[in-house]
Amino acid sequence: MKMIFRILLLINLISWVSGTFVVNVTQTSYQAEENHNITVEWTFTTKPDMSITSVNTLCSLFINHKPLVLFHLHDGVEVSESQHQQFSGRIQFDKHVLREGRIRLQLSRLRTEDSGLYLCDVKTDDGFGSETCRLNVTAADHPEPQRPTVSPEPESQGWIGLYVGLGLTAAAVLLVTLCFALSRCFTKSTD
Ligand SMILES: *[C@@H]1O[C@H](CO)[C@@H](O)[C@H](O)[C@H]1NC(C)=O
Ligand SMILES: *[C@@H]1O[C@H](CO)[C@@H](O)[C@H](O)[C@H]1NC(C)=O
Ligand SMILES: *[C@@H]1O[C@H](CO)[C@@H](O)[C@H](O)[C@H]1NC(C)=O
Repeated sequence: MKMIFRILLLINLISWVSGTFVVNVTQTSYQAEENHNITVEWTFTTKPDMSITSVNTLCSLFINHKPLVLFHLHDGVEVSESQHQQFSGRIQFDKHVLREGRIRLQLSRLRTEDSGLYLCDVKTDDGFGSETCRLNVTAADHPEPQRPTVSPEPESQGWIGLYVGLGLTAAAVLLVTLCFALSRCFTKSTD
């Protein structure tokens, strides 16, 4: 009896671990420029009868292993107090797609310090899961780094041409010398 109970427990555990409930990211890495907007999205397993109030999520940006809360949903309700001030007024949550199992967040007026690893934990009555994605925000206000050679090809081609030319010249000189030496040999032998 005890054995059967253990086996049942194990089966339960396996089915839970093996992922009847999953959390995915639609994109694992995002690249954006400062002051631009971006939409990040996580998806999770849903059932047709899923209640929005069963959805709990916590999405955070990890900087040096320290989480800054980006978005917190408690029993289907957004908890804006949890949000880190870095993101205040810059996050838009799309409520309409939550029922489809989508956590869609728009981050606006991106800052370079928004860069990093984002982790979203999702828990519903059906299970728990988490997934990460990376965001890289590059600075925009600084002028483009100076590029003295806009197209490096002509210059390098010029150098190649010079080398080829030098090579040919050397070969020609060698050939002329060889011919000269040979002709001298021949003229000597015919003497
Ligand atoms: C998660 O990703 C897998 C593999 O791409 C896919 O089969 C599954 O349907 C996705 N599930 C959700 C809930 O997005
Ligand atoms: C970014 O989002 C904000 C707020 O949603 C909007 O007012 C602005 O026009 C958007 N900018 C771009 C470049 O899409
Ligand atoms: C972020 O993007 C810049 C510009 O494309 C790149 O040089 C840099 O390596 C990227 N950083 C990371 C951590 O991916």
